[in-house]
Amino acid sequence: MYVNTKEMLIRARKEHYIVIGAECWSLNSASALINAATELNMPLILMLWEGAPEPMAQPEMICDFVRYEAGKTHVPIALHLDHGHELETVCRAIHAGFSSVMLDASERPFEENVAITCEVVRMAHACSVTVEAELGHVGGMSGSCSENGDNTLTVPEEAAEFVRLTQVDSLAVSIGTVHGIYSGEPHIDIERLKRIYELVDVPLVLHGGSGTGIDLLRQTMQYGVSKLNVMTDLLKAASEAVSEGSFLPELDIYEALAECVKGYMLPLTKPL
Ligand code: 13P
Repeated sequence: MYVNTKEMLIRARKEHYIVIGAECWSLNSASALINAATELNMPLILMLWEGAPEPMAQPEMICDFVRYEAGKTHVPIALHLDHGHELETVCRAIHAGFSSVMLDASERPFEENVAITCEVVRMAHACSVTVEAELGHVGGMSGSCSENGDNTLTVPEEAAEFVRLTQVDSLAVSIGTVHGIYSGEPHIDIERLKRIYELVDVPLVLHGGSGTGIDLLRQTMQYGVSKLNVMTDLLKAASEAVSEGSFLPELDIYEALAECVKGYMLPLTKPL
C-alpha cells in the first residue's frame, strides 16, 4: 500500500516506534526492501538521494515502479526524496508522485533555511506531499568524518521557531549522529533530544543511522524520533554479499539488503 509519509510518522511518534528510511538505488533494491517490510509486516520508507545517478535521472519511472510494488503488499510503503539540494529536483519529485521530499538547507543560515523550506512546503502541500527539513547539521556527508564530523547540533528553541515559521511536517535534528562511518564511539545528546521533544510537536528524524548502535537508537524512540535514515550499512551489506564464484550475484545482494534492513526494523519498528 503506497501511503502518505506524514500519517505514517504521526502514528510512529504517538506509539513511540521508528520507521526506517532505507536508501535504495535501483528498481531491484527497492523491491528487495519492500519484500523485507512485507515479511516483517511493518511500514517502510524507501529513499532516493538527489545524486543517485540511475533512478534520479528518471524519478517518474522509479516512482511508478514503487507505487506498483507497494500496491501488491498490505504494509504501508512511502517514497521519499532524501537530501534534495535543488528546488528543481524537489519539484520533479513532487510531480512524479513521491510521498515526501526533503530540501537540505541545513548548512545555510537560519533565515535562508526558513525561506527555502517555506517555498518547498507551499509547493509540496498543494500536492499533499509531506515535507522534511533539517535544522542543525548532521555532518559526515563525504563519508569519512571525525568523531563529531562537521556537526552543528540543533538548538531546541530554534527548532520550535523553525517548525512554527515553516509548518514543516517532520524535522531532522542533529544530536550527535553522523553520516557514514564513525571514527570513534557515537555520542548521542539525549538531553538535547528530550528538550527538542518537549518544544516541537512534529515527528523527529535522525540521519546517520548506520553504526550508531541499536541500544542508543532505542533510547531516542521515547523522545519523538519517528524516522531513522540508513544508507552506509545497506551499501556495506550489498558490497560484502558478492562472494567469489557466485552464480547470480544480484540475488546475494538483494538478500543481504533485506537482512540488513530487517536488523534495524525488528528492534525499532512496530508490526502492524
Ligand atoms: P548513514 O549512511 O550513516 O546510514 O546515513 C544515511 C542518511 O542519513 C541518509 O540521509
